[in-house]
Amino acid sequence: MILELPRRTEHFGAVRLHDVQRVYELDSGTRKFPTKAKEAVATISSDEIERINQKMVIVVPVKNERLKLLEGVLSGIPHDCHTIVVSNSSRSPVDRFMMEKQMIKEFNHFVEDKITLVHQQDPGIAEAFASIGYNSILQSGLVRDGKAEGMIIAMLLGKMLKKEYVGFIDADNYVPGAVHEYVEIYAAGFILSDSPYSMVRVSWVYKPKIAEDKLFFPKWGRVSDVSNRYMNHLIESYTGFGSEIIKTGNAGEHAISMRLADLLFYASGFAVETYELVNILEQFGGVIPPANPAVMLSGVDIFQIETRNPHLHEDKGDGHIQEMLSSSLGAIYHSPICPPKVKKSIMDTLDNKTPVRKGRKPNLPTILEPPLKVDITRFVATLRKKAQTLTEFG
Ligand code: GDD
Repeated sequence: MILELPRRTEHFGAVRLHDVQRVYELDSGTRKFPTKAKEAVATISSDEIERINQKMVIVVPVKNERLKLLEGVLSGIPHDCHTIVVSNSSRSPVDRFMMEKQMIKEFNHFVEDKITLVHQQDPGIAEAFASIGYNSILQSGLVRDGKAEGMIIAMLLGKMLKKEYVGFIDADNYVPGAVHEYVEIYAAGFILSDSPYSMVRVSWVYKPKIAEDKLFFPKWGRVSDVSNRYMNHLIESYTGFGSEIIKTGNAGEHAISMRLADLLFYASGFAVETYELVNILEQFGGVIPPANPAVMLSGVDIFQIETRNPHLHEDKGDGHIQEMLSSSLGAIYHSPICPPKVKKSIMDTLDNKTPVRKGRKPNLPTILEPPLKVDITRFVATLRKKAQTLTEFG
């Protein structure tokens, strides 16, 4: 891959926020070579990418998506990555989870990937969490619904597999080639990082929509436009300089080095991607005394890399957009580092965009503890004994 080196970086305490980087060539061959523009671009060989892929799990959270989409996503994930599918699909009246399991079995007959599958509502998983006192993820004796909850399960499975990187890809992606590109982008970001604490967020070149019978290629999603603005307001209220650095406030497709993933708190449901950024600023931004001074020395790299492929995914309607918007803004609003001026402005936007809840503060997100706190040996021992849906293919 040949991609632009970050042209601009903003510093927020120990956090290095890199501006969006463009991909010039998706595959630049097996050899690393300097181009004439070597001061502006990085050439990353396919060998280097493969080496990262071998150390990376790709997590696919899925809830009642079409099987063909899920199968397409699996086909785009490079063979060297270990795939973890965490399903929260319905078990009745139609057992969609069983359909997913059957599809993966058939798919894997041809490709022999390493794929781990589990159902989020498996009582055995809840028991494994209870056994280690990780209760924030539980509700009425089971793991709570929510994408972030699925991500936590997968991160722990990734730790069980002793992987160094974890990447996330939604199951409702229409373009397998885009999925493949996301994984290459993750690997490229990790290769460029100067720190073992790094995150790579995908910035979509376009999110195509059908409008008035024509294909239209808007640049920003309806939620990300707003959450990016407030993330930037938060940053500029400390630095004193106007900022547009955050362009990936809601990047469902992103990856984290396990060293960083281990330290972060996660917000339940759809607040998760925005809150990851907020929590990084809280923990390593220097506003609040740091709990992990060692990280302050290495710094945290956040890359935002723009795809070549457009992002084509399921449109789940206006209600869903409003839920995502208020969750994302809630993650910023309730942060201890969010100044009153930004809070007031968030309230104005929510009153305007979600009139039904006028005057009400956004919900306080439920916060899940960092994976580092988990006794992984004990968690895995209970999981292997009790989780009946845990299936390891390949
Ligand atoms: N395991 C699990 N558990 N997966 C879930 C759950 C759950 O409770 N809820 C949703 N998913 C899966 C979906 O099947 C899909 O693969 C992925 O999580 C994202 O959920 P969607 O409902 O499709 O969200 P979206 O496409 O509207 O929003 C996505 O993109 C946003 C940025 O544009 C999400 O990734 C958002 O988190 C992201 O902010």
